[in-house]
Amino acid sequence: RTVAVLAGGLSHEREVSLRSGRRLAGALRANGVDVREWDVDARLLERLSTDRPDAVAVALHGGEGENGAVQQVLELLGIPFVGTPSGACRRAWDKPSVKTELVRAGLSTPDWVALPHSTFRELGAQGVLGAIVERLGLPLVLKPDQGGSALGVQVVRNAADLPAAMVSCFAYAETVLVERFVAGTEVAVSVVHDGEEPRALPPVEVEVPSGFYDYTSRYTPGAATFHCPARLPSDVLDALADTALAAHRLLGMRDVSRTDAIVDADGHVHVLEMNVSPGLTDTSLLPTAVAADGSDLATVYLALVERAAA
Ligand code: DAL
Ligand code: MG
Repeated sequence: RTVAVLAGGLSHEREVSLRSGRRLAGALRANGVDVREWDVDARLLERLSTDRPDAVAVALHGGEGENGAVQQVLELLGIPFVGTPSGACRRAWDKPSVKTELVRAGLSTPDWVALPHSTFRELGAQGVLGAIVERLGLPLVLKPDQGGSALGVQVVRNAADLPAAMVSCFAYAETVLVERFVAGTEVAVSVVHDGEEPRALPPVEVEVPSGFYDYTSRYTPGAATFHCPARLPSDVLDALADTALAAHRLLGMRDVSRTDAIVDADGHVHVLEMNVSPGLTDTSLLPTAVAADGSDLATVYLALVERAAA
């Protein structure tokens, strides 16, 4: 089989994606797959239509790789790919839309306000931030409404720091997702559909000395400590698996996804977001879960490629 691994691109997460792509391509190649490793640029369409690989594996993160744009190109060309179809990517890429769907389905997610830059400018910081603090309390977590790898994400503990933090978050997106801060254990649950049914891998608990799993602690080896399975009671581990599978199905995820969540002091699971293209780097969460499950990335992705190309 020929498999094209798509990585790179122009998003903020380009470097991360190149690392994911290299790791995945290496793992597949070591297992006899004829791999093309393509950095996504203007030649993509031509390469895909002339080369027509048996399947594509999308190792792109951020922007066009997760918002459904590249997936739509693949759908138009009729080239099978590992991962979620374009429509579901588009919905999952927008954090406020995901949260709305989760709440509608009865899953818990921290309360939030999505604040467009235009409203922020119109009403001014004074006018709007006071009302948000009154509703959500402090600390708050600010996130670009679309994005990954914690880029632009900030935890704000004092109301006085909020206006400046908002402005820097607007550098990443037109709309800022302002979330209630939920204290607890940070956990990621990967779902893979490498057999008959999608299955949840053991939850990975993330422990960071600073308490904030930011870009640097995500991609610096040793900066974060992973516990897999998470150091939580077995009923909570079960609830995490059920939640990740429910969210995977609810949002129309295919083949692979990762649900990030916080478990509070009472053992309740609060979903933070869904990832359609989980990182595959040496310090990423899905490969950690796969290893803890007694498998390896190549075995899982070979099965996904077979399913896609079948
Ligand atoms: N956005 C990064 C790649 C992740 O979720 O792993
Ligand atoms: Mg993410």
